[in-house]
Amino acid sequence: MPAQSDRTQVGIIGAGPAGLLLSHLLHLQGIDSVIVERRSRDAIEATIRAGVPEQGTVDTMIAAGVGDRLQREGAIHHGFDLRFGGQSHRIDLTALTGRSITVYPQHEVLKDLIAARLADEGQIIFEATDVSVHDVTADQPHIHYTAPDGITHDLACDLLIGADGSHGVCRAAIPETLRKDYFRIYPFGWFGILCEAPLSHHELIYARSPTGFALISTRSPGVQRMYFQCDPAEDATTWSDDRIWERLQANVAGEDGFRLKEGKIFQKGVIPMRSFACEPMQHGRLFLAGDAAHSVPPTGAKGLNLAANDVVILARAIEEFFHHNDNTHLETYTATALKRVWRVQHFSWLMTSMMHNLPDENEFDTKRQLAELELLTSSPTASQTLAEIYVGAPLGT
Ligand code: FAD
Ligand code: DHB
Repeated sequence: MPAQSDRTQVGIIGAGPAGLLLSHLLHLQGIDSVIVERRSRDAIEATIRAGVPEQGTVDTMIAAGVGDRLQREGAIHHGFDLRFGGQSHRIDLTALTGRSITVYPQHEVLKDLIAARLADEGQIIFEATDVSVHDVTADQPHIHYTAPDGITHDLACDLLIGADGSHGVCRAAIPETLRKDYFRIYPFGWFGILCEAPLSHHELIYARSPTGFALISTRSPGVQRMYFQCDPAEDATTWSDDRIWERLQANVAGEDGFRLKEGKIFQKGVIPMRSFACEPMQHGRLFLAGDAAHSVPPTGAKGLNLAANDVVILARAIEEFFHHNDNTHLETYTATALKRVWRVQHFSWLMTSMMHNLPDENEFDTKRQLAELELLTSSPTASQTLAEIYVGAPLGT
């Protein structure tokens, strides 16, 4: 048996965007939580991931009092380019939807949420090991873990949240006989870089070309984030800067003579691509949120936003459970959250399959991809639908 027994209202596994935002939203409602996280604070704050919170995510952060730096330092973008056939086609998000997106990296969101939790004396157990969940269908589930000082803990809670990402332990607590997993693995990955260079364009560019996909994003006026399609097993360390720039330039080349502004590459890595969703997202008193329940390929920047949507739904339902003794919305959590999960799964799959070269691609596939891109950029109705999903609906819907 663990050496020390503790108690909280909501036990959360994982200090990613889902776990931290939920813990903060619950605190605002006067509900206690403890987050158990296996990584260190430094490691979490240094991991480079997504870069684009939707307006709904930004609005949620601001309303929750954790959006000051995001508003000060985030760059608002009113459109983006779809580039194909060697030409750019702008999707004017604000004209089409009245809304916009903000470029503000995920690790900065995490820094803001961790700082807020600690300032409010919230408990985050960093560097926990041997994390396991127990009695998830009983009235009082438990989390067992070993703290960094070596002491083993038994944390009892009323509700347990699995916000432990795609490789966590919580999903497996829903028995396979009750759970269905939906998968798609893509035969390509993204080679991502950070470089010291000026902006090549004032908005994001998603490019499809005969040599593969590229995404031109940004982090600040002097630091740029770019990606290109690669073999998922590619070893990033074997790529020289020259080779990387050659590939990126080829993937955005066109008759308009567009070229990227190059600079020193100081970070590089390969991201695998997959679509995954599991149903249900609840078992007894265990609720999965974010990547623990679903993940999407990064094309379209939806992962972080989908995680935020889950926890906005959960925060409301948990408040009703504790303050009004009403579990109606906890019971309907799976059905409510899955509506957006599958809308976003479809969008992320569409953006991915439309923009990437497939290993066994034939001319029919190429023509079909180009026809899809033509439709999305030339039909106002199709552009509007794309823009609506890209900027995202308000969270909690
Ligand atoms: P996570 O951010 O994965 O957080 C889960 C947390 O749980 C982690 O801190 C982990 O250490 C912790 N944990 C795991 N197991 C345990 C355990 N057993 N015990 C305790 N703690 C545990 N999305 C985009 O939209 N655009 C992108 O460009 C993009 N790039 C990405 C690049 C990478 C390399 C990865 C992995 C993801 C990327 N994503 C991207 C997806 C996006 O970052 C995720 O959707 C988002 O982080 C989901 O948040 P989350 O809180 O659900 O999970
Ligand atoms: C970024 C990542 C994405 O997946 C995307 O669609 C747009 C931007 C980024 O890291 O900046």
